Amino acid sequence: MTRSLANGFYDVPAGKVAAVVTHLEMRARVPERVGPRPEGLTFRKMDQPDLHTYRDLYARVGGIAWLWFSRLQMADEALEAIISDPDCPLYTLEVDGRPEAILELDFRVEGECELAFFGLAHALIGRGAGRYLMNQAIRLAWDRPITRFHVHTCTLDSPDALPFYIRSGFRPIRQQIEITDDPRITGTLPPEAGPHVPVFEG
Ligand SMILES: CC(C)(COP(=O)(O)OP(=O)(O)OC[C@H]1O[C@@H](n2cnc3c(N)ncnc32)[C@H](O)[C@@H]1OP(=O)(O)O)[C@@H](O)C(=O)NCCC(=O)NCCS
Repeated sequence: MTRSLANGFYDVPAGKVAAVVTHLEMRARVPERVGPRPEGLTFRKMDQPDLHTYRDLYARVGGIAWLWFSRLQMADEALEAIISDPDCPLYTLEVDGRPEAILELDFRVEGECELAFFGLAHALIGRGAGRYLMNQAIRLAWDRPITRFHVHTCTLDSPDALPFYIRSGFRPIRQQIEITDDPRITGTLPPEAGPHVPVFEG
């Protein structure tokens, strides 16, 4: 862990975006947060969705609004390998048969589960669907023999995400700065994506 950094402002290079990443974990199953099951939503496992369906859902939940890009720049083969891996199960909330949420778990490290992706399409936010989907995530994670369930979120994500994870039972354990190529400059996302984050082309 870095201890030598001087206080102050640091330049972000042109063409890059910077974010503060918070890592959170829970070390034991927490009780479900009870609440009414949101109407009109069907919780469903997505078994090996085709790449177009997956990328479209990922972009609608996180790409355009929150600058999620990692899965959008993956080659077909690499993405196919993950979404067909039984240790990376994928779930959604369907509305009229259309997937409108992502819950992706990653059990590839023995004894652990990472909440790899979690989010709702815009129309579902603020209706209790997040709480409902998180209850499913906690149940599915702890139904396997794990001792740690973890997630990270960053300042590019919705500002609701960090308090949501904390009230869901995760505890912040570490922060980092992440600097990456701006996906709007590389062409992974359109220029109008992530309007809360300025583009610095240099
Ligand atoms: C983070 C995220 C999943 C939270 O979803 P959400 O819908 O805001 O979460 P909740 O289900 O907790 O609902 C929020 C609040 O809406 C209120 N609410 C409004 N109508 C409600 C209803 N019918 N039932 C229950 N709660 C309702 C509640 O106050 C609730 O808070 P509470 O559960 O603490 O009482 C969502 O903001 C999101 O998907 N963001 C975009 C993607 C993202 O940033 N993901 C995280 C990346 S790491």
